[in-house]
Amino acid sequence: MQDIKQYVEHNKQRFLDELFELLRFPSVSADPKYKAAVLKTASYTAQKLRDAGADNVEICETAGYPIVYGEKLVDPSKPTVLVYGHYDVQPPDPLELWKTPPFEPTVRDGKIYARGACDDKGQFYMHVKAFELMIQNGGLPCNIKFMIEGEEEVGSSNLGIFVKANKERLKADVVLISDTSMISMENPSLETGLRGLSYLEVEVTGPNRDLHSGVYGGAVANPATILAKMIASLHDENNHITIPGFYDDVLDLTSEERKALNNAPYNEDEYKKDLGVDALWGEKGYSTFERTGTRPTLEVNGIWGGYIGEGAKTVLPSKANAKISMRLVPNQGSDKITKLFTDHFKKIAPPYVKVKVTPHHGGEPVVTPTDSIAFKAAQKAIAESFGKDPIPTRGGGSIPIVALFEAELGIKTVLMGFGLDSDALHSPNEKYDIFNYYKGIETIPLFHKYFAELSGK
Ligand code: BES
Ligand code: MN
Ligand code: MN
Repeated sequence: MQDIKQYVEHNKQRFLDELFELLRFPSVSADPKYKAAVLKTASYTAQKLRDAGADNVEICETAGYPIVYGEKLVDPSKPTVLVYGHYDVQPPDPLELWKTPPFEPTVRDGKIYARGACDDKGQFYMHVKAFELMIQNGGLPCNIKFMIEGEEEVGSSNLGIFVKANKERLKADVVLISDTSMISMENPSLETGLRGLSYLEVEVTGPNRDLHSGVYGGAVANPATILAKMIASLHDENNHITIPGFYDDVLDLTSEERKALNNAPYNEDEYKKDLGVDALWGEKGYSTFERTGTRPTLEVNGIWGGYIGEGAKTVLPSKANAKISMRLVPNQGSDKITKLFTDHFKKIAPPYVKVKVTPHHGGEPVVTPTDSIAFKAAQKAIAESFGKDPIPTRGGGSIPIVALFEAELGIKTVLMGFGLDSDALHSPNEKYDIFNYYKGIETIPLFHKYFAELSGK
């Protein structure tokens, strides 16, 4: 541990400079205008893996953005860890809300502000630096394979194809991912599950053209009003989702599991204060942790229709649209939920409008084991570097590839994230604490050490 701390201390500034360089690439996968930058990010990542000592580094082309692969196989009798991360980021919009530009990383109050600082550049890069550290400090206790993709934020559809076509190359004993959150630095935790996702877009069409809202208003149904009513009807007074069959496959937690989850430290006042809300909202009968970690949800991610420019235009819109996501929990399946939603949404449409539902990406929920050698190695690593046992929690976000790793490669994942929910992932002013960055770099080598030790190899 002393050697690790010393190496980090000696290389502190360079570790930060390299991350800053990575953060300067606007690698937004959702918007084609950033294509050149996304490709440069892949090259930079590959180069940094090579510099750190990885072999067989390759920028693997896909139908979309490439996957960066690299490995260091030290001994076939040692266990192999497959490190997954993503070099793409979410769009930075709305730009005007950033205090400093999203692709000019800036330190304020010990925190790095930039798009991707936490999700996931800051976190996957810790693995590259921990890898360098291990090589420079006596060698790797395990074989390591890196797979860093560029389409996580848009559903990883090409990664699925890559995984299916590269089963031999990706063979490993565990997948290790840092792309999730901890409760706080004082309360280190390990996420033991991720929610699935069903994402779709709806369009409600009324009249065949935009109308004068005075001439026709009152005689023709307004699609924006109808859409709002339809969406509002998707939750009942207890905030349960009203789609028939929606909860059929949900696995309820045992009362012990619920108790364990609710034992995690949680300060409702701080939670509300951080978000600037006076009251919380959610499904009746469940705590905040349960609502975000173990219960499915339905959210409107965007809604529009009619005139949204400057000033006032009197118009009764022809169409209204919304983007809707549903977060899923074990044992729900995204295709089934997408179909249930589609059928229901069409069914509740009144005769004044036509409804179109277009599915986007999906992903399956996962629960990761807590009795595996790999999970124990992560627990030990965190306990040693934080001086406190990690608390098992359930994550609310989704990393669709995790279920696929399990289904296609038969490999389970350990989610060893060092972010915080308050790091503003996907929001303006995303940040990552420099302390967490270094702490991650110190903890990762301990994971590899204990994973090899506990595997008895
Ligand atoms: N890293 C996040 C997921 C995450 C964040 C999990 C915090 C647990 C805690 C990931 O990059 C992400 O944002 N995933 C998307 C899914 C994707 C299909 C767009 C998500 O959860 O919205
Ligand atoms: Mn991520
Ligand atoms: Mn993300």
